[in-house]
Formats: sequence, C-alpha cells, structure tokens
Amino acid sequence: MRERVVAPTVISPEDEKINISLRPERLQDYIGQKQVVEKLSVSLAAARNRKEPHEHILFYGPPGLGKTTLAHIMANEMGTRLVAASGPSLQRSGDLMGILTNLEEGDVLFIDEIHRLSPAVEEFIYPAMEDFKVDFIVDKGAFARVLNVPLKKFTFIGATTRAGLLSAPLRSRFGIFHHIDFYPQDELAQIIKRSAALLEIKIDDDACDELSRRARGTPRIANRLLRRVRDFSQVKGHGAIDLQAVNAALEMEGVDSRGLDDLDRKFLTTIINYYGGGPVGIETLAATLNEETDTLEEMVEPFLLLIGFLQRTKRGRMVSAQAYKHLNISVKPGLYPEDYGQESLL
Ligand SMILES: Nc1ncnc2c1ncn2[C@@H]1O[C@H](COP(=O)(O)OP(=O)(O)OP(=O)(O)O)[C@@H](O)[C@H]1O
Ligand SMILES: [Mg+2]
Repeated sequence: MRERVVAPTVISPEDEKINISLRPERLQDYIGQKQVVEKLSVSLAAARNRKEPHEHILFYGPPGLGKTTLAHIMANEMGTRLVAASGPSLQRSGDLMGILTNLEEGDVLFIDEIHRLSPAVEEFIYPAMEDFKVDFIVDKGAFARVLNVPLKKFTFIGATTRAGLLSAPLRSRFGIFHHIDFYPQDELAQIIKRSAALLEIKIDDDACDELSRRARGTPRIANRLLRRVRDFSQVKGHGAIDLQAVNAALEMEGVDSRGLDDLDRKFLTTIINYYGGGPVGIETLAATLNEETDTLEEMVEPFLLLIGFLQRTKRGRMVSAQAYKHLNISVKPGLYPEDYGQESLL
C-alpha cells in the first residue's frame, strides 16, 4: 500500500526512531487513558507491596495509541527489564524457548501482535504463563522425552489490534485486560505540546488545536503531522508554527479538516457512487478499491466509525448523512428517512 501520512502504523525507520524518542517513560507522564492509568497504578503498587511480578496484562486497541509505550512504562515502573518479541517472528516453540529461559525474575516479556502467534507457540506459552514452566520435547519418535524446565517468575504483556482474533485459551490466561481507545482532542493537544517541547519546536496554541483536530484520535499520527508541519514551516515560514502553516502543510499532504486523506475519501465516495451509499459488503468494497480487506478494516474504518461517517450494519457498510455533508455531496432523497429530516441533511 502507498505511504499515508495519516497511517496509524509505523511507516519508516525514521518514523519509528522518533516514536521511540517521544515515548513517555513513566506512568505519570502518560497523557490520557485515565482509567487505564489509574488501574495500572493500583496494580503496580499492589505488586510492589507483595514484592511479586505484576500480573499478566493484555493491551488491546487500534494501532498507534500507546500500547507498546505502556508496556515499556510497566517495566520502568517495576524497575525491571523489558524483553520484546512480536507474534509473527515466533513461529516455532524453539524461537521462544531461548527467550523464556533467559528471563530474570520480574522481567517483562512483551509480545506485540499476539494474535499472530502460531498455534504451536501458543500452546507452549500456556504453562509458561500459568505455572512459570515450559514442557520442552527433546528427540523424536520412540526417544521423545518431555523436559520440564522451570522459569523465573515474569510478567507477560501482550498487545493486539485485533482482540477478537485471540484464541479463548490464550485470552483466559491474562489476569488483566486494558482497552486503549482513541484520544479526545484536548488530550491529543497535550500530547502535541509535549512532543513539540521535546523536539524543540515552537507552536502556537491554535495551531496545536488544529493539528489535534486532524490527528484521528491517534498520538502516533499527531506526532507525525507535527513533524511534517515543522518541515513545511522551516522551508516556507519562519519562527513558531502557526495556524496558517498547519493549514497549508496539511493541505499539501491531502489531509482535510477532519483528518481524512485520499484513501478515506475514496472509500466513502466509492460507497456513494457505486453502491448508492450502501449497504455494501467489505469484501466487495475492497475489490472495487483494489485494497486488502484487512487494510480497510484496520486503517480506514475504525476512524470513520468513530466520527460517525460510517455505519456497520448486518448487511454491510453504509455512509452516514454527516459524511455526505463533509464531502459536499447531496444525499439521495429518502435515504435516511427515520433518522434525519430531509432539509437537515445538507
Ligand atoms: N499517552 C501518550 N502520551 C504521550 N505520547 C503517547 C501516548 N501514547 C502514545 N504516544 C506516542 O505515540 C507513539 C505511538 O505509540 P505506541 O508505539 O506505543 O503505539 P502502539 O499502540 O504500540 O501502536 P501499534 O499497535 O502500532 O504497535 C509513541 O511514539 C508515543 O510517543
Ligand atoms: Mg506497538
């Protein structure tokens, strides 16, 4: 897929380097997700009191909202190491064996994209999570023996953007679940201010507000847009980033007043122009747009659903009246008879 400035995932090594440098390291510096932070500070204090590793945690929610950041914070707060791996990179149980046996007491083992673990690795993990041991099979056929290897007590943290794809047995072995949700605009503005200070970028309050309105509720996007606007104003402008610079830079990037880009608009206008506004199945849409279904489900739909531009019904996706209005397209008469009065549509 082409690079999108509003992609919630990491898009380049440079992007990732800056992400890492902007990560808050302590729970008190983590902006927003108040309930999650409160609960974590209680469970952290309890674990510290008991002098035990923290319970296993699953963080789930859309990409770019701070799941990896929270896993690092947990290790920092417990004063332990974080050992990181990712689901797709662990295909055989042997891949995990070395990692598990090298863990020190209290370490955090963080596995990203945990819904993509292979079944063999999943089964291998169960006794590790439950009883801090692994059953390792050596030799083959008649000589096969099961070696029972004890492990140090560790905290397992899993992260996923697709909690629904997690198997029930794996899910049941987590003690704590935290849903990380999109950020409201005022919290995104705080995140942008913090990042600007760390990157030594000067930005006006109204420029910061405007950026936060267009960042799709996602800190990773907010940080990326901030850098693009900085580049723009370094070349074209002078001094602090102002509202004018934000507007001009984002127009150049094709990011509109609600944070939609070409792909979002194409997604919506395809439903409108080809399928009368919907309902239309996601597979059909993916084929029409020549995109992967997964891409649309993970990178386009969540935000359009959040802002009410899209509705998911049993019969498929439907574009809402607000989306028509935003796109400046007139609604077919009678399309929303119950919800909206005809004249209030546009
Ligand atoms: N609450 C927050 N306060 C400040 N910055 C944040 C916060 N949450 C996330 N960030 C910033 O957003 C960036 C992305 O966060 P992170 O990498 O933790 O996302 P993620 O949820 O793990 O995404 P993915 O699902 O793609 O792995 C980080 O670089 C961090 O700087
Ligand atoms: Mg992550």
